[in-house]
Amino acid sequence: MSARNIGSTGRRSSEWLGDGGKAGFIARHHLRQEGLASRQLDGRPVIGIANTWSELTPCNAHLRTLADSVRRGIQTAGGLALEFPVLSIGEPFMRPSSMLYRNMMAMELEELCRANPLDAVVVLTGCDKTTPAALMALASVDIPSIILTGGPMLNGRFRGRVVGSGTDIWRMTEALRAGEIDAAEFTEFESCLNRSAGHCMTMGTASTMASLTEALGMQLPGAAALPAVDSRRAVLAEDTGVRAVELAEEGLRPSAIMTREAVENALVVSAACGGSTNAVLHMLAIAGRLGVPLTLDDIDEVSRRVPLLVDLMPSGRFLMEEFAYAGGVPALMRELGDLLHTEAITVTGRPLAESIAAARNDGPEVIRPLRNPVQPAGSGTAVLRGNLAPDGAVIKVSAADPALLSHTGPALVFDSVAEYHAVADDPDLDVTADTVLIVRNCGPKGYPGMPEVGNLPLPRKLLEQGVRDLVRISDARMSGTAYGACVLHVAPESAAGGPLGLVRTGDLVRLDVPGRRLDMLVPDDELATREAETTPTLPPAERGWTRLHIEHVLQADRGVDLDFLVGSSGDAPAGTPF
Ligand code: FES
Repeated sequence: MSARNIGSTGRRSSEWLGDGGKAGFIARHHLRQEGLASRQLDGRPVIGIANTWSELTPCNAHLRTLADSVRRGIQTAGGLALEFPVLSIGEPFMRPSSMLYRNMMAMELEELCRANPLDAVVVLTGCDKTTPAALMALASVDIPSIILTGGPMLNGRFRGRVVGSGTDIWRMTEALRAGEIDAAEFTEFESCLNRSAGHCMTMGTASTMASLTEALGMQLPGAAALPAVDSRRAVLAEDTGVRAVELAEEGLRPSAIMTREAVENALVVSAACGGSTNAVLHMLAIAGRLGVPLTLDDIDEVSRRVPLLVDLMPSGRFLMEEFAYAGGVPALMRELGDLLHTEAITVTGRPLAESIAAARNDGPEVIRPLRNPVQPAGSGTAVLRGNLAPDGAVIKVSAADPALLSHTGPALVFDSVAEYHAVADDPDLDVTADTVLIVRNCGPKGYPGMPEVGNLPLPRKLLEQGVRDLVRISDARMSGTAYGACVLHVAPESAAGGPLGLVRTGDLVRLDVPGRRLDMLVPDDELATREAETTPTLPPAERGWTRLHIEHVLQADRGVDLDFLVGSSGDAPAGTPF
């Protein structure tokens, strides 16, 4: 804390509330307006509860009541709890893409923490973008803080079998389009998948980011995997509130927790749990806020040496419920052993080694030991480069048909997702199992907001032939619950002048995952001619957030943050203190 912020109790909040004159009066009498007695304003630490609760974010709808448990913990430990709303990002609803709003939530939370009389903050998150946005904000404001993710849903159950978020939706949608199931079965499935409160229970983006938050040291051990409706989550919430008060007193800040070592731990855990490709973007953005140097090459390097240990959909068989009962992230980290920096300090104030020592793997089928992985090292997210993606692209190896990892085929190119959807069911579509399906203008600027459309549905013609995977290339993202030989995050994107905008239908495209290459087999002079003839187009954006986003968003290899949000400004309010 800067000297400027030290008030009469030495707490940040006392600069607002500890002042004996008019400024303090104004701050205190407005808290009395909320019915707070004098004893609540006796200089105790003020702990914010930043809540992403919203009925427009069903995965976070239970956070309204979970906040009560956090509040109980704060009060038990002698703090004053002040809950406030933060922009909530509902993955299923927000258009054109939830990713367009991640940076908005990060900016809002950062500024709210900085502008208010808070000594520490608890952030309640859940659905995909809310957790990385919170981590980015906390890295930039660097106020003592702790995250509590809302926990995954219970397993889906349909006609006697377990079904998982997203992953089984893709499967059932393909089965419907292939004529293997009828509309009635599809509708019945709809009501059986999401049986409880919580976020998606596959190892999708929400579960990945919850696990990485724990690996980064920013939430209490075991918090990532425990189901949302397990009564022990309320206990965890109370413990989180208690710990927030202690953090305020200790002054332990995110910059002391989210170090380079902690970031590396998160990457190792992501690879070991088959984490979402979206985590690549989020970790690059978080590292950018922290000032921790991190590149796509670092992510590829970790992926090459860390095997897949967690047998969860979409790469494996089980769901977050089984992961929790097996011991969750602490048990996984125990199996990872020397691959982690166990000296890293977590939000507990203690080294990671202590959380790991207390862990037990009660489900060795779900969390495999290093000597018996689900898939060997190198099956996680691979980073590709070539004349189609000079600044990089990614593919989730474990989610692809192995036969397609080294593949050359003719491109079938679409300038938009809508253009592809218009012909996807056409029986005369000129497509075979060798085709490389390309969709562009889906990047950070081009869509705008880089939607999760990179796992394009297969052409009906191929589905009816029994084809279940196809090489697909785009500057889009894909859901962490999805699967397929999908090359994503191509950078630079086509709308920013990237060479993805130059490829034409019929060009041969070569995907070489072992060699980490992605190329179109077109002579350089021909590409130069095409480049001279091509004008990238940006979507219209006259005003508001979309305009700000398009003008300032960084490419996928920089985490899709806004250029002016990279880095940290600390917790001192802007302007001159009065
Ligand atoms: Fe919210 Fe999947 S839709 S986590």
